[in-house]
Amino acid sequence: MLDPNADVYEAVKGLRVVRNFEDRQISEEHLDAILEAGRWTGSSKNRQNWAIIVVQDPGQLERLAECGDFTTPLRNAPTTLVPVRLPEGYDWDLGRLSQNMMLAAAALGVGSCPVTFHREDDAKAVLGVADDHGARFGITLGYPEPDAERAGRERSPLSGRKPLGAMIYRDRFET
Ligand SMILES: Cc1cc2nc3c(=O)[nH]c(=O)nc-3n(C[C@H](O)[C@H](O)[C@H](O)COP(=O)(O)O)c2cc1C
Repeated sequence: MLDPNADVYEAVKGLRVVRNFEDRQISEEHLDAILEAGRWTGSSKNRQNWAIIVVQDPGQLERLAECGDFTTPLRNAPTTLVPVRLPEGYDWDLGRLSQNMMLAAAALGVGSCPVTFHREDDAKAVLGVADDHGARFGITLGYPEPDAERAGRERSPLSGRKPLGAMIYRDRFET
């Protein structure tokens, strides 16, 4: 019944974070393809009020890792993308941009994990991002270690999802 787009549906539903990566850089071809998928993300009024910083320098990665409380994936990964919200950009658009790049990465065999910069001002200072811009999250990228996703899911208390019945309402939000 899901054909002909069953693969796309399964990819969307099956996306899971990867926190352990092989010790090698992702190819430029894969990086370009992931960024290109991001470029085509729709945005409010098509304003594309974003920029993306590709961080691969080990010193920069280490400094960024200091800016959040749960940045082990960033320390493990060879590349981190930082979507920057330009002035008047929307967080909604940045979320779509990020998810599109993560889905595109998965389609290419590249694992990813969002990481939060709890000290966003520090992250912005590391990256040279101006005060009136946002840089709250990074997306780590790398080739998954064999079995990384399953192992991560089994270890994580955060895996699984609430049932639909716990989140869907009809016509009005009633608690
Ligand atoms: C906005 C956002 C911020 C996140 N920040 C972090 C983070 O700082 N560190 C981390 O390890 N994972 C982070 N994650 C990953 C979530 O923990 C993960 O998406 C969630 O637990 C579901 O995991 P699963 O994809 O394995 O089902 C973040 C996810 C989102 C959407």
